[in-house]
Amino acid sequence: MSAPLTDLIAIRDLSREQVDGILSDAREMLPIARRERASVPTLRGRIVCNLFLEDSTRTRLSFDLAAKRLSADVVNFTASGTSVNKGESLLDTAQTLMALGVDLVVLRTSSAGAPVQLAREVEIPVLNAGDGWHQHPTQALLDALTMLQHRDTLEGARVTIVGDVLHSRVARSEVELMRLLGAHVTLVAPPTLLPPDVSSWGVTVTSDIDAVLPDTDVLYVLRVQRERMHRAFFPSIREYAQVWGIDAARMRRLPADALLMHPGPVNRGVELTSGAMEDPRSVITEQVTNGIAVRMACLYRLLSAAPRTEVTS
Ligand code: NCD
Repeated sequence: MSAPLTDLIAIRDLSREQVDGILSDAREMLPIARRERASVPTLRGRIVCNLFLEDSTRTRLSFDLAAKRLSADVVNFTASGTSVNKGESLLDTAQTLMALGVDLVVLRTSSAGAPVQLAREVEIPVLNAGDGWHQHPTQALLDALTMLQHRDTLEGARVTIVGDVLHSRVARSEVELMRLLGAHVTLVAPPTLLPPDVSSWGVTVTSDIDAVLPDTDVLYVLRVQRERMHRAFFPSIREYAQVWGIDAARMRRLPADALLMHPGPVNRGVELTSGAMEDPRSVITEQVTNGIAVRMACLYRLLSAAPRTEVTS
């Protein structure tokens, strides 16, 4: 049995045993996530709060369904119309949630580092559902689960991550997890969309996408994060699509047994064409279903280690 999980903030906080434990629980939860089996009473009586301070529909829905398939009660707290926008600090909000008897907080925020700060202040587990450019650990875990449904091991697998690495919390979590699981990661990006510290990431970096495709087992395409770009990082969307986008011609350069992945939501016609998305090697919809199972596994692990919250006022 691996060490209990008290919070889930970043992939680097997890041991190999903890990752294997989460993935193995997620495999067991898959039939429930896929609704082939009824929901289970595992978390009955526990309250999960989705505290989403940044726009997100898919990830919130995925956490919502995951908690409900385990019979937890779910309260959704989104930024618009809440007191967080009226100047209440994150910590005040968390204290309110604890006073209301919430057992776990799932936090999505545009500010990198907020989940770790929150975890220091509250006794209940904090699950990072994406913080700024920093981390998105459940995304990387669901991606690993998806890859491992198609190959026995990631040891030695060649994973190519293409696109807007600079603004991507997904890329940061993905690189850490792929390296932990023994994969070789190559990043392909315009030089303006590479982080300045990339040389310390332990990955290969190239800007020649066509050369790397034939030697790729998993092609992981990032979303162009236009909402996080406050200046022009490339001349135009059209040029980005031509130089970096994945279309049918580039899919032909990939090995026959390679996988195409994307965290969603896809900017169709920018980083991926509809033709590429319809390729049989695309596992993008499997990623979505696996997301529910992985989030079930994480909620389960965090809440089985945590005592029940007593209502404090
Ligand atoms: C990711 C995110 O928000 O970090 N999407 C998601 O969780 N559904 C990826 C992205 O925004 O590109």
